[in-house]
Amino acid sequence: MCGIFAYSGSKNTEQILIEGLKKLEYRGYDSAGIAFSKEGKINHYRVCGGVEELEKEIPLSSQTNSSQTKELGIGHTRWATHGKPSKINAHPHKVGSIYVAHNGVIENTDEIKSRIAIKNILSETDTELIAHLIDFFRQSENLDFFKASLKSIPLLKGSYAVVALCESNPKEIIAFKSGPPLILGKRNDGDFFISSDLQALDEELEVLFLEDEEILHFKDDQFKLFNLKGESIKRDLKKNLSTKRRETQKGKHPHFMIKEILEQPEVLSSLITTHLDTGKSQIDFKLSKGNLEVLNHNLKKSSQILILACGSSYFTGLFAKYILEELAELSVQVEIASEFIYRKAHLLPNTSVLFISQSGETADILSAFKQIEKKNLSLLSLCNVANSTLDRKSPFSLHMEAGTELAVASTKTFSASLLSLIFLAFHIRKIKVSLKPKEENDFIQELLKLPFLIQSLLHSEEFFLEMSEKLKKFKNFFYLGRGLYYPIALEGALKLKEIAYLHAEAYPSGEMKHGPLAMIDKNTALLALLPHEGLLYQKSLTNIKEALSRGADLIAIGKKLEESQYFLKLPKTHTFLHPLLSLIPLQMIAYYTSRSYGYNADRPRNLAKSVTVE
Ligand code: M6R
Repeated sequence: MCGIFAYSGSKNTEQILIEGLKKLEYRGYDSAGIAFSKEGKINHYRVCGGVEELEKEIPLSSQTNSSQTKELGIGHTRWATHGKPSKINAHPHKVGSIYVAHNGVIENTDEIKSRIAIKNILSETDTELIAHLIDFFRQSENLDFFKASLKSIPLLKGSYAVVALCESNPKEIIAFKSGPPLILGKRNDGDFFISSDLQALDEELEVLFLEDEEILHFKDDQFKLFNLKGESIKRDLKKNLSTKRRETQKGKHPHFMIKEILEQPEVLSSLITTHLDTGKSQIDFKLSKGNLEVLNHNLKKSSQILILACGSSYFTGLFAKYILEELAELSVQVEIASEFIYRKAHLLPNTSVLFISQSGETADILSAFKQIEKKNLSLLSLCNVANSTLDRKSPFSLHMEAGTELAVASTKTFSASLLSLIFLAFHIRKIKVSLKPKEENDFIQELLKLPFLIQSLLHSEEFFLEMSEKLKKFKNFFYLGRGLYYPIALEGALKLKEIAYLHAEAYPSGEMKHGPLAMIDKNTALLALLPHEGLLYQKSLTNIKEALSRGADLIAIGKKLEESQYFLKLPKTHTFLHPLLSLIPLQMIAYYTSRSYGYNADRPRNLAKSVTVE
């Protein structure tokens, strides 16, 4: 949520800032701006719109900065929290000679306004007050840029990552944070970068993760770290440890989202390679961080697992609940992190806690982590972004290994998360219950076919295109699924809402009769996810018929039903893997529907990929 990028060096500053912001745009894209020094003066550009719009505004020179006079600058790509997207609300904000770019939310704006008599507030943002504070201390107490910033930080309440420039000291950048990340990167040619995440920093850079209550002072081409008392802190930059990157270009695809959907067979194959032994006859679960023996010991003692997550990651947690209960015979509780943090939950002493977050930067998850880490429980996280805040803080972590996901709506990380959780559940069964060789072998045989089955489903493009046109006549969409298919139904409905802006709800089909049936009419499409066979298949049929008799149209995913207007048959596979197959059509239908309306699926309105505010 909001991307920050800063640079100091001898290359073309404005160009480097634009390139950095482009890599961070998935964090927010409603407005953008930069402020940078050129021969002792600060240039300031802001636009309502994305970084491409900003680029058009700036007279980009191809000149590099002179090596004697290295220049510097800060940039920002915004996801609005306070104040609508507009040029005046775009960052960096300027007050006096101070320029500030901010990610997060300042909660005590009224307190700040009454603390210093602010005469002229130009924007509707909380960020402008940070600039006012620094400017106030510079002027009223005659402090330099660094000391005025140091004095301002303790007055800020909320979450923030801030970079600031000062017109009177154009050789300095100040950066500080509480909550959202800020990373300093250094290249061996002496150029420095500051970024909201590793994504925008080249792999060859040495990096330093700023901690809360630290202030970074960049001056005369060198940086120094201090605590909030102004005492110097010694910490070295380290090699950038971000894991393997994938292509971050769309290539021949119109959107990252479709590219990422189509990457799923490859992503899952590689995850399978990670967690199967080389002979591929046994599960060989691998942690990405932490000692597996110690984790095993903790898990063996646990009788309960608490899973915390948000959005799509929460749905993967629900999916894990069903599998962990069945395979690991554990009591499993799944909670939405933003709710959990404001409850007085009583956790048993032998609870293991699993945090699921693609980005590893979601503010609600990080708050939950902060609360729980005090409780001396076993903590494991599942992230996609290696070295994200959650990943770094967790003693044990597992990576989704899906590669960079740039579309706001998660797709390949969702399926990678489901598969990682299946591996975790089998692993716990192995160490805690017992996994019979036949049971393991039956699963592995089907698992090895999974990427090919998904690949063949992805080829049904014509069906998805046709569906997206047909679906246009409906006003309401009900996604129905039972058991393991319910979290998939939730994900399907969320995808349609996020990128096609259509009203969609997901229900366990048995719940429809308890109220939602009243909503069904001829304007309703039912997307029913069907298991291949078994009790839940029979039960689902009864529920679907109840809904159909109220006039809805049926799209059956899994099997052809007599009553279905449309259907997509799915191949038979292992019970735990079949729901992954039913996910694919839902992703494709949402994507093609969004496209048929002419929307940009990569940048849904009002959303950002990494939600770093509560
Ligand atoms: O990075 P996280 O997994 O913590 O993100 C959680 C949600 O914000 C995320 O899943 C969101 O719901 C996505 N837009 C889903 O497509």
